Amino acid sequence: MKNLDSIIQNARAAFAAVSDSNALEQVKAHYLGKSGQITALLKDLGKLAAEEKKIAGAAINQAKAAVEAALNARREDIRQAALAARLAEEALDVTLPGRGEEKGGLHPVTRTLERIENLFASIGFTVADGPEIETDFYNFTALNTPEDHPARSMHDTFYLLDVQGKVAENVLLRTHTSPIQARYMQAHVACYKHLETLPEIRIIAPGRVYRVDSDATHSPMFHQVEGLWVGEAVSFADLKGVIADFLKRFFETDDLQVRFRPSFFPFTEPSAEIDVAFMGGALKGRWLEIAGCGMVHPNVLNHAGIDPEKYTGFAFGFGPDRLTMLRYGVNDLRLFFEGDLRFLRQFA
Ligand code: PHE
Repeated sequence: MKNLDSIIQNARAAFAAVSDSNALEQVKAHYLGKSGQITALLKDLGKLAAEEKKIAGAAINQAKAAVEAALNARREDIRQAALAARLAEEALDVTLPGRGEEKGGLHPVTRTLERIENLFASIGFTVADGPEIETDFYNFTALNTPEDHPARSMHDTFYLLDVQGKVAENVLLRTHTSPIQARYMQAHVACYKHLETLPEIRIIAPGRVYRVDSDATHSPMFHQVEGLWVGEAVSFADLKGVIADFLKRFFETDDLQVRFRPSFFPFTEPSAEIDVAFMGGALKGRWLEIAGCGMVHPNVLNHAGIDPEKYTGFAFGFGPDRLTMLRYGVNDLRLFFEGDLRFLRQFA
């Protein structure tokens, strides 16, 4: 049938002329759809005599199969072409070098804190923690600090505002890490009150603290490392030994002197400032203050529920920022907290 051959030819050409699958399905309808050319021929079969019907029916069905085969082949072509286009578009060259890959480093103060933690861990201290937003009670009252102590004033301490925007008198940014002493002792007592003898407390507590202060050696945010050792026979001599040993190991030299200068803190009695002097180097012979310390005041022990007749302890508070300045020879504390990479990279 000549007509059928030309229908097949035309269908092939029409399929080849489109290149996306939607268009292809529309072209298909011209031939195989409800009112398509092949469908029309099949419908017309009814008008033929039985013998002719058989022959014509077979020929039309063959033609239909040929058109369907051409359609399927074109569908596959289009699918492959779309896949190839997508692969080309999303191609990723895994051999290209990465963009701006940079090595990070630890902040110099973080290095110091880790160093301090490791040195104290080696003599049995564990690391304790506490909140930076503290209550007036733990920051001052539990530490035997009187109502009229200057540290409580707005000149020295950052108080927080309540929801109405008024200063909330009993919530503040902790001014030192000493509240962790009070919190830790309280928790320790609660944990071991069933025992006749309280297990020793030996902790250090590094963290950020806040004061209204800013110059070359003071930043409104700085770090402290609190230390606390409470037990049945802990003495000031122990304190001196622990501190002197720590400083020699921290600065990696025996060539330094440590001095305990009488001082005052409400929460220790007696109290002292710890000064260090190097026997060589740029700072040779200058006494530098690096910590406060003392024997834990009986009132502080009492507040925590520890019997001061049975237990004694010492506490100290180091300024690790100051220790970092000394160790690396930096003369302005603020450099540590300005986030200038030109400065910080030197320590990485
Ligand atoms: N908390 C004191 C300060 O901020 C330091 C200190 C800690 C003193 C522990 C004695 C004992 O200055």
